[in-house]
Amino acid sequence: MLEKVDILLDEVAKFTATDLNQVEEFRIRLLGKKGEITALMSDFRNVPNEQKKEFGQKLNTLKTAALEKVNEIKDSLESSSTSNKEKQDLTRPAEYTPLGARHPLSVVRKEILDIFTRIGFSISEGPEIEDDFHNFTALNFPPEHPARDMQDTFFIDDEIALRTHTSSVQVRVMENSTPPIRTVSPGRVFRNEAISARAHCIFHQVEGLYIDKGVSFADLKQTLLYFAKEMFGENTEIRLRPSYFPFTEPSAEVDVSCQICNGKGCNVCKHTGFLEIMGCGMVDPNVLENCGIDSTVYSGFAFGMGIERITMLKYQINDLRHFFENDLRFLNQFKSAY
Ligand code: DAH
Repeated sequence: MLEKVDILLDEVAKFTATDLNQVEEFRIRLLGKKGEITALMSDFRNVPNEQKKEFGQKLNTLKTAALEKVNEIKDSLESSSTSNKEKQDLTRPAEYTPLGARHPLSVVRKEILDIFTRIGFSISEGPEIEDDFHNFTALNFPPEHPARDMQDTFFIDDEIALRTHTSSVQVRVMENSTPPIRTVSPGRVFRNEAISARAHCIFHQVEGLYIDKGVSFADLKQTLLYFAKEMFGENTEIRLRPSYFPFTEPSAEVDVSCQICNGKGCNVCKHTGFLEIMGCGMVDPNVLENCGIDSTVYSGFAFGMGIERITMLKYQINDLRHFFENDLRFLNQFKSAY
């Protein structure tokens, strides 16, 4: 009987099949109710006691081997037959491949940068952890200016802080290059603010800087009008309101005509017909001098905008927190944006 087990073991090892019927026949012949292995199992009680252990172990090995073989060949025949069938249907529609989406802030950031690189601006970046000189002093912030207050700035120590604006990159670019300079600087900025629908402690800005001989406020105005039309549409108008920033003189706040009501007045623009999009101005001569540029030879303009703000206006998003929560129901809506 031991010999019989050996013969069957050998047979199992050598067994191959080209279709499922052969596998089934083989299974019935060995493992079926009247199968050879089943018969050996019931003969077990006739085996002399001293051989029972060896015989039992061998028989178990045989049974497992036979079961495994049957399943293995069945699986491989089944999977190859389905993949053959799939190959045959050449008209079958392609599998659906789920696409990811760019984050709306990335979409708008790219759009802003594209608009400016088209008219000759380069892209520059600077560190998020800045020293006092680049974030404040060089930009003409007097030592007692409230923006240096602990409430606005995340200080790391007396000298080092998380940058509160990307204007710090202007300083770095001016220090390291000679005019003409035309650059836009995108980046993350940090302010010690309570998080709400309209404020966050982390947000994104794009800073713009243009320095050359004879740059005037008219150049600034025309550049911003070009930007507004490219960003919000050909019929967009801009409005400049006098304002104050330590690093520009004169300074202005830039508004664009409301996209929702076309400037007629609605809830979104609080019935003014305009929405604020950025700050700007002529670079203060002190700032040029602080950065090693001769203010008697060169002049320039600068502007700074929040990417979140532009995105909210463009897509009519009413809560800043959506940008940071990574809720797929929000993010999936930007799949068609590029
Ligand atoms: N840095 C300003 C802010 O964070 C924005 C800004 C205003 C930048 C006027 C400029 C500018 O370059 O000229 O609020």
